[in-house]
Amino acid sequence: MEIFSNPTHDEIKKAAKALKDGHLVAFPTETVYGLGADATNEKAVSRIYSVKGRPTDHPLIVHISSINQLGKWARDIQDYAIKLAKEFWPGPMTLILKRSELAKDFITGGQDNIGLRVPNQPIALALLRGFESLGGLGIAAPSANRFGAVSPTTAGAVEEELGSFLELEDIILDGGSSEVGVESSIIDCTKDYPFVLRPGAITTDLIENTTGFKVQLNQDKNEIRASGLLESHYSPKAKVVIGKTAEPGDGFIALANIPTPAGAIRLASPSNIEDYARVFYKALREGDQKALKKIIIIQPDGDGLAIAIRDRSGKAASRKVTFR
Ligand code: TXA
Ligand code: MG
Repeated sequence: MEIFSNPTHDEIKKAAKALKDGHLVAFPTETVYGLGADATNEKAVSRIYSVKGRPTDHPLIVHISSINQLGKWARDIQDYAIKLAKEFWPGPMTLILKRSELAKDFITGGQDNIGLRVPNQPIALALLRGFESLGGLGIAAPSANRFGAVSPTTAGAVEEELGSFLELEDIILDGGSSEVGVESSIIDCTKDYPFVLRPGAITTDLIENTTGFKVQLNQDKNEIRASGLLESHYSPKAKVVIGKTAEPGDGFIALANIPTPAGAIRLASPSNIEDYARVFYKALREGDQKALKKIIIIQPDGDGLAIAIRDRSGKAASRKVTFR
């Protein structure tokens, strides 16, 4: 595998060509790093599953360069979905739409719908445009981590997760740290009104303001359940515990205004919710690098992105499937 740091135009072109030739390219997005393959190439897509160790019935998000590519992958698109795409793309939002003929079972996990996203990251957009200029139609990309593990927000984390599974011709594009830090909001737009499947930076308020619909969100558990979304996910090796008092030697993640308990190892002190999202996965990884047994998370209160942080930390804390 080759790593291009702050890739030049030519290096991005080389990566686009690698995708077209059926290789994998990990690339930065504003949410987390993705592991990309040509979304029309079954063999290339099957390598995503083997490199991630992910079950093949889990659908993949197809990344496109702009709203203009939407009609290639989706059909019968609801008006409110068009409004969302116009308002928030490029951005941290995935729309679930009815699939076109182009979206094969090996992308959708056999479902009749497709997840689409236009990422807001210059390298990702340049890669998409380069790929499309070679005749490519979309890049399938899940987060570039092993199945069930913490999503990577840096190229170093991608290398650590997947380096030993990638082949010689695969490429990692290093574009620095992801701006948002948690995965895109996933909005099911296949019904008459929108439904949030995974909370993220495009919050329910934003969706409601744009569509005029009241948005469904399971407030009780602060997490959304959907087919393809497992309860246990986003987990480091350390045991994650929510909201308990930390004992000496435990890792500790909380907003900066919450003091570190005696003997605990502070992994992050974000000063606001946006900061919390940005540093959260990095902090979990750091806990593993320090070989901590336990990480205590004090979840942030409130709406907006805080809901996404509670969702991910809740999932990191529940380990109902074993994946390592
Ligand atoms: O921010 C993100 O969305 C990142 C970056 C790389 O774009 N991607 C990402 O992909 O988080 P992934 O595969 O790690 O998570 C996407 C989730 C999966 O749980 C998948 O099952 C679900 O979205 N998903 C994808 N397509 C779907 C569909 N058609 N219907 C329902 N769920 C879908
Ligand atoms: Mg993922």
